[in-house]
Amino acid sequence: MRIVKTKDYNDMCRKAANVLSAQVILKPDCVLGLATGSTPLGVYRQLVEWYKKGDVDFSETVSVNLDEYVGLAPDNSQSYRYYMNDNFFRHVNIKPENTHLPNGLAVGKAEECARYDAVIREHKGIDMQLLGIGHNGHIGFNEPGTAFENGTYCVALAESTISANSRFFSNEADVPRFAYTMGTGAIMQARRVVLIASGAGKAQILKDSFTGPVTPQVPASILQLHNDVILVGDEEALSLFV
Ligand code: PGA
Repeated sequence: MRIVKTKDYNDMCRKAANVLSAQVILKPDCVLGLATGSTPLGVYRQLVEWYKKGDVDFSETVSVNLDEYVGLAPDNSQSYRYYMNDNFFRHVNIKPENTHLPNGLAVGKAEECARYDAVIREHKGIDMQLLGIGHNGHIGFNEPGTAFENGTYCVALAESTISANSRFFSNEADVPRFAYTMGTGAIMQARRVVLIASGAGKAQILKDSFTGPVTPQVPASILQLHNDVILVGDEEALSLFV
């Protein structure tokens, strides 16, 4: 694992955006695995800025996102499709048909999981997967205590995730209880993983994930077995082990 220690959140975003844009410059038709949440917001802002300056071109790039809430429509402002359109896709020249997320409104859950796995397979896997990390160690919505799953599946969100994500909703009862998530297997098959983390609140889980045992109790710990992980974290997030 390579560790890039940055001064603060903005520095972390710039460095992570540099790694992502280098990937797109070197392989314009690459497949980017993308993430939602608070942490990547500054990364997307930076990529948009560089796109507008003409430094990076997404016209051939394909994206597959990690996860989506079950039951939320794409135009629901809490859905991850909405987040991605709003924070990234509509500001750059990625083709809408090249952007993929699970469909929160799919009728058959098993069929939707199979469809999403087929999308990843048809594009020959993920070149670079951007990941955040939950305070409970989840990556995507692979929650603690569930077996390491291979393909996409529908997951019951952990209470800690529902409570952490309630800050985006008007109240906790509105947070969906289920989500589709790419499995740990698909994340592990990404050719390169870029995990970003910021703030003291992530320090303990980063330490547990990268220096503790590899266990489904700490889903991100499986990344210890991946041979090309770049951890971009700010000083506070890395304070307990670097
Ligand atoms: P955050 O979420 O970036 O909002 O902290 C990370 C995650 O849950 O994966």
